[in-house]
Amino acid sequence: MSRPPRFVRARAKPAAALPRTLDIDITELGARGDGIGRHDGQPVFVPCTVPGDHLRVRVDGRKSDGLAATALELLRAGPGRVTPPCRHFGDCGGCALQHLEDGRYGAWKRGQLVTALRRAGFDEALVAPMIAIAPGSRRRATFAFVRRQGELRLGFHARASHQVVDIAECPLLAGPLLDLLPPLRILLRDVVEDGRDGDIVATATETGLDLLIEAEARLDLFDRERLAAFAESADLARLSWRRPGAGMIEPLAHRRPAVVRFAGIGVALPPGSFLQPSPEGEQALACLVLDAVGAAGPVADLFAGCGSFTFPLARKAVVHAVEGDPAAARALKSAADHHGARVSVECRDLAHRPLLAAELKRFQAVVFDPPRVGAAAQAEQLAQAGPPLVVAVSCNPATLARDARTLVQGGYRLIRATPVDQFPWSAHLEAVAVFERQAGGR
Ligand SMILES: C[S@@+](CC[C@H](N)C(=O)[O-])C[C@H]1O[C@@H](n2cnc3c(N)ncnc32)[C@H](O)[C@@H]1O
Repeated sequence: MSRPPRFVRARAKPAAALPRTLDIDITELGARGDGIGRHDGQPVFVPCTVPGDHLRVRVDGRKSDGLAATALELLRAGPGRVTPPCRHFGDCGGCALQHLEDGRYGAWKRGQLVTALRRAGFDEALVAPMIAIAPGSRRRATFAFVRRQGELRLGFHARASHQVVDIAECPLLAGPLLDLLPPLRILLRDVVEDGRDGDIVATATETGLDLLIEAEARLDLFDRERLAAFAESADLARLSWRRPGAGMIEPLAHRRPAVVRFAGIGVALPPGSFLQPSPEGEQALACLVLDAVGAAGPVADLFAGCGSFTFPLARKAVVHAVEGDPAAARALKSAADHHGARVSVECRDLAHRPLLAAELKRFQAVVFDPPRVGAAAQAEQLAQAGPPLVVAVSCNPATLARDARTLVQGGYRLIRATPVDQFPWSAHLEAVAVFERQAGGR
């Protein structure tokens, strides 16, 4: 009987012990805004640093393809370093680049789109100058909270962590959201059990603040009365609660509809539905979309949300809006019907059931604005038989570049891509890309 083969496990090369500290030069900014230096040929990622910094860092561990480190001492400051405007910068994970002068920050951010498109084979010349949305305009934010040993912390998560940084200021937020924090802290201390945490989606609408609290809690009658009293005293439009993992949203106080307005048409925003984070950002994106679509019509507005592009487009053309969130689709339809807008609405999952080539034939232009994963399935259908004009709005340069490649392989040409910085000082970037079908395209 032959011996069973012996499997000898290849001995892994012992990992070199990590140095505890290093003196390094930062040479570039990474995709998430960390400064990057080098040690033994591998990248060392150091948050809150800028190219040109010479630093002593503490090595925290390995990170994907390199090392993660924390700045201990700035030995020589690189050019473009400025004092961060917010006292929480560095602790709070919301911002990555408040310490960099505007011009260099803007070049880095636009560069995120340039790099993603270049990797997909597009020329930098197609990327327009970036439109920057000023801080202080955020009408929507998701706050995190935790209650431990009687102490209630309310703010944002720390960098790459579940820790909550209690915030007293935030230069990004619009006034009504900031003013909400002190009374909300008191409310949560009363209502949330010790050891619990959660999130609050707060939206400043035309009719007042709309709050959706997402947390585990046993709300007794007394808690419910306290929550309703808070809605009254803070003059909220609405206060709702959702338990984590539960789809259902429980209304706790509905004092009036939470209304947002698109091209003059008021839409009653359902709790938890998508809304562009600032009116200025929404306006910038809508202007780019309208400008690109011009006089074309009929238009399909895919991933339409509550209609931020649908209603501006409907001023000039017949629009078919498609949205996957049933509540958002209902809100859009109800507003369209109420105002007699030239809009038809379809609730449809475009990831699994994209508009097919045969359905796309009746449009002269298609606008699509998917979530971060992009619109791979829809781009495939557009590539097969899309209309003369396609406008892609994106919050993720990588998936935009992928979908752009699909469109170009189907016979489109990328005309231009405009970056819109709706999330100042963060690594998030939005963009609007315009495609025209080439004569003789597939
Ligand atoms: C980035 S938002 C854009 C919404 C809208 N265009 C706006 O500017 O407010 C993406 C929208 O796509 C919707 N969505 C996400 N996944 C979807 C899917 N698989 N099918 C259809 N819609 C989807 C979301 O509900 C959300 O309203």
